[in-house]
Amino acid sequence: MVESIETEPVPLDVASIRKDFPILTNREGLVFLDSAASSQKPTQVLDAMRHYYEFDHANVHRAAYDLAEAATNALEGARRTVARFIGADDQSEVVFTKNATESINLVARSWGAANLGPGDAVVLTHLEHHADIVPWQQLAEERGFEIRWIPLTADTQLDLTDLDRTLDGAKLVGLTAMSNVTGTFTPVQRIVDAAHGAGAVVLLDACQYVPHAATDVGALGVDFAAFSAHKMCGPTGIGVLWGRRDLLDSMPPFLGGGGMILDVRTDGFVPAELPAKFEAGTPPIAEAVGLAAAIEYLEDIGLDRIRAHEARLTAYALRSLTERFGDEITIHGPSEPDQRGGVMSFAYRDIHPHDLSQVLNSHRVCIRPGHHCAKPLMRCLGVGATSRASWYIYNDTEDIDALADAIGESGDFFTI
Ligand code: ALA
Repeated sequence: MVESIETEPVPLDVASIRKDFPILTNREGLVFLDSAASSQKPTQVLDAMRHYYEFDHANVHRAAYDLAEAATNALEGARRTVARFIGADDQSEVVFTKNATESINLVARSWGAANLGPGDAVVLTHLEHHADIVPWQQLAEERGFEIRWIPLTADTQLDLTDLDRTLDGAKLVGLTAMSNVTGTFTPVQRIVDAAHGAGAVVLLDACQYVPHAATDVGALGVDFAAFSAHKMCGPTGIGVLWGRRDLLDSMPPFLGGGGMILDVRTDGFVPAELPAKFEAGTPPIAEAVGLAAAIEYLEDIGLDRIRAHEARLTAYALRSLTERFGDEITIHGPSEPDQRGGVMSFAYRDIHPHDLSQVLNSHRVCIRPGHHCAKPLMRCLGVGATSRASWYIYNDTEDIDALADAIGESGDFFTI
């Protein structure tokens, strides 16, 4: 997971990076602090997708003409890029889905339905996004297994005091690598070791992690990992499920249709080999090309530099907002910047997050108000909703200052 950076990486040239993102020019004055919901897209990604459609598009894995082969090569080249990026040994362990939510549903409906029943347990944490909660609850209703929860400390970290007891008899642990609400990094390797010791597999929701820090699924030792392209400068409409080959091989298909079979007869079908077995229908080809371009873009910048940049902005935001607003602001999540990513949920006075975000919008500052699809976590925090700001490679301290100024203005607005 995120390691302390011993030699400080070269700082990002944010002014130059911003020029890669047309939306930041097209919408003058935009202060975009909602990348945890979806990041913006650089020209390099937009160009790659446009080039694909203008030169290489046809359906894949179906026809013998050159153009179809070019499209197939584009899709499979993107799969190789994803596999390399996350340290997967084998590109056929990379399954393209619609998004991380679908990736998790795939594991629940395929691995979960085949392996979970009465007397079994799935362990989740109070930091999970609904995407890593509801699929397990839906399945638990049908299959009758138990869901157990890893609670939180007062500093919004996972409380591992009772971990061994919680894992006793568990078959799967669903774990976020980083909270989309508080930015809390979780101790993935520690939980993986304990889960494997208890005989459970680990599904990592890496949606908020992969865009921001170097990720190696082999080194982490997880069994499944899910993430979405649209949070990492790639397009919407494509996500990734990575899984250990032996597990994926043993699992039944999730969705049925064209492309996922070796044979179909009136009395049944034979599924295809990986990864086609899990990719029914025409896959998101242009989106895969865009995802590969996004990966190359992030790699050119350097994931270590991206993590260092976000850590610097996080430290700056924690310090400057606390100094400026004192007791009037409550910032949720770990107090130490190195224990959290570039996401900050907060409450300002008693102003409702939706009201605050509307005033911020009038200053062109984009944040997300609400429960952030993490209602169990909201209950742990004792709130119904938070205001959430999140930063990425195109943000700098000026954006945090603009956020602080707009929060100050909202205080004036609601005092009048
Ligand atoms: N999961 C996304 C978020 O946290 C949409 O905002």
